[in-house]
Amino acid sequence: MTGYVTAFSHKPVLLDEMICALQPRDGGKYVDGTFGAGGYSRAILEAANCNVWAIDRDPDAISNNAATSLVKKYSGRLVVVQGRFGDMEALLSGRGLQKADGITLDLGISSKQLDNGDRGFSFRKDGPLDMRLSKVGRTAADIVNDTDESKLADIIYKNGEEPEARRIARAISAARNLRKITTTAQLANIVRSTVHPRKGRKIDPATKTFQALRIEVNDELNELERGLKATEILLSPKGRVAIVSFHSLEDRIVKNFLRSRSGVHVGRSRHLPEQQAAYNSVTFRLIKRGVVKPKPSEIEDNPRSRSARMRIAERIANKIKGS
Ligand SMILES: C[S@@+](CC[C@H](N)C(=O)[O-])C[C@H]1O[C@@H](n2cnc3c(N)ncnc32)[C@H](O)[C@@H]1O
Repeated sequence: MTGYVTAFSHKPVLLDEMICALQPRDGGKYVDGTFGAGGYSRAILEAANCNVWAIDRDPDAISNNAATSLVKKYSGRLVVVQGRFGDMEALLSGRGLQKADGITLDLGISSKQLDNGDRGFSFRKDGPLDMRLSKVGRTAADIVNDTDESKLADIIYKNGEEPEARRIARAISAARNLRKITTTAQLANIVRSTVHPRKGRKIDPATKTFQALRIEVNDELNELERGLKATEILLSPKGRVAIVSFHSLEDRIVKNFLRSRSGVHVGRSRHLPEQQAAYNSVTFRLIKRGVVKPKPSEIEDNPRSRSARMRIAERIANKIKGS
């Protein structure tokens, strides 16, 4: 299955590993919270005679010929909905899904979104400084032009883990006083001419600033927290979640959530009375303690997969604390 390319040349990452994690079965109900170009949904539908509810917040991802033809091809087995995976419970309960046997999230953006200069995600393509996945709300240009310098530095530091955030924010502030920053090329050039050239730096100097702004525009970290809580509510006992992240901020959130919900910090003996209570509030079991990474052959075939990390856990029957 690896190397399978969807209609928009988006190569799904860790595809075989995601199927191996969810283990789709006939009659099962699965959620693909990040439909994108449909690669994951399609693979799940091919793996078993099951049903998939797919969500994407980008209206372009769900209203195009490829999505329509997938819905047609798997008639009655695929439902595609526009919205955010943080709202999956509400979005899907009205569409016939109360409990799921597996949920997957493949975070970030698709190659189609990245390669479309008009969306403003890429520092390699000139275009409007937009970056809105849902196509509503504040754009990256609004943030870059209207946020005060110290708040902008915080955004770049926290969301981009960029050590030179203060210098970059100062340079942006100076540049926007002369001329409004409206394009990706303008911003990329400001950052490139500010960041110190560092020996061994493998990535474009604008990478972290662009990541920071995209996270801010789309509120991605809060959205991920909401999505994780939704998986806990929606999964049936023995249902599995497989989450693919692409940078350390996302992976840390996923890791901390799954570790805390699976009680990895709880002591070993569940027979001691004080530990019994802690075990009773555990809602997940880690299928693998660490992450699943792409094989060298996948990275060679699809260099964009190199930073992908998958975490997998299984829902156990305990009720959610306080519910
Ligand atoms: C990496 S792509 C997914 C690719 C997909 N697995 C495939 O095989 O084609 C991520 C997708 O998730 C969507 N997305 C990102 N955040 C989202 C959110 N909070 N809710 C719903 N969709 C989201 C993006 O619009 C994008 O289409």
